[in-house]
Amino acid sequence: MSERNDPCWCGSGRKWKKCHAGIPAPQPTTPTEELRQRYLKQYGILLKSPEQIAGIRKASQLAAKILDEACRFVKEGVTTEEIDNLVLRLHQEAGATPASLGYGQPPFPKSCCTSINDVICHGIPDKRPLQKGDILNIDITAILDGYYGDCSRMVLIEPVCEEKKRVCEASHACLIQAIEILKPGLLLSEIGNTIQRVAEEYHCSVVYQFVGHGVGVCFHEPPQILHCANRSQIPLVPGMTFTIEPMINAGLPEVVVDPEDGWTARTTDGRPSAQYEHTLLITETGYEVLTLLSK
Ligand code: MF3
Ligand code: CO
Ligand code: CO
Repeated sequence: MSERNDPCWCGSGRKWKKCHAGIPAPQPTTPTEELRQRYLKQYGILLKSPEQIAGIRKASQLAAKILDEACRFVKEGVTTEEIDNLVLRLHQEAGATPASLGYGQPPFPKSCCTSINDVICHGIPDKRPLQKGDILNIDITAILDGYYGDCSRMVLIEPVCEEKKRVCEASHACLIQAIEILKPGLLLSEIGNTIQRVAEEYHCSVVYQFVGHGVGVCFHEPPQILHCANRSQIPLVPGMTFTIEPMINAGLPEVVVDPEDGWTARTTDGRPSAQYEHTLLITETGYEVLTLLSK
């Protein structure tokens, strides 16, 4: 794994020289190290070391804190651009970088995603003032000391109609119930199967065109975390870090991406969508919610 043109040991799929150049892959010495090499080879999944976990926990805690402040700043009349300015400043004050800024193609132009009403995800902060009846998702990904933490939640600008309330409650219940089953040995498919079941209990649909993802040393790592019913046979093991971020629609599950900006993803029927996201760690006995705000 030390050849410069070989795939990077982190599982990004990029060349080693273009990714974690100069940083060698850890060598197998223990059963843990053997499992680590097997998950990387078989699935492209990087199981994190205690040092990496400590870094990802710190970045996740920062993301959670910034998300909390951003949500408390929200009220009628505030623009999403003002939220974004606050989010950028909080990153800078913490010596961190917002992962969203300049990410992808076309480069994402802002420091967070703000997705209102029928926007499913990847909404771009702009000059539109928030109105009574809006539901808003704020999605924050912080890079701190090279590690990534990713989380999002909904804010309701009351009074909000029953349908919007229901879709927010559904996406939250989907996330929480999917988290509560996590433990070593569980098959990855059980996450999506749980989310699909809970969404249907709320008479909502699951967006299948966007997924959760491994996260920690890169923004988006393997594996993909499907939110709909699926047959993934990958067993969870300690040291996995990934997001669960169900996007739940009140109506049809399909997505249409804005051809003008290349990012904003909306429902095709104009009905509302909601999303909650956490960064999770699989531990020896279960899980840790890394983006849970600690006081
Ligand atoms: N934070 C989003 C996620 O949960 C990704 C946003 S990419 C951006 O994976 F470029 F739109 F910011
Ligand atoms: Co994410
Ligand atoms: Co996110």
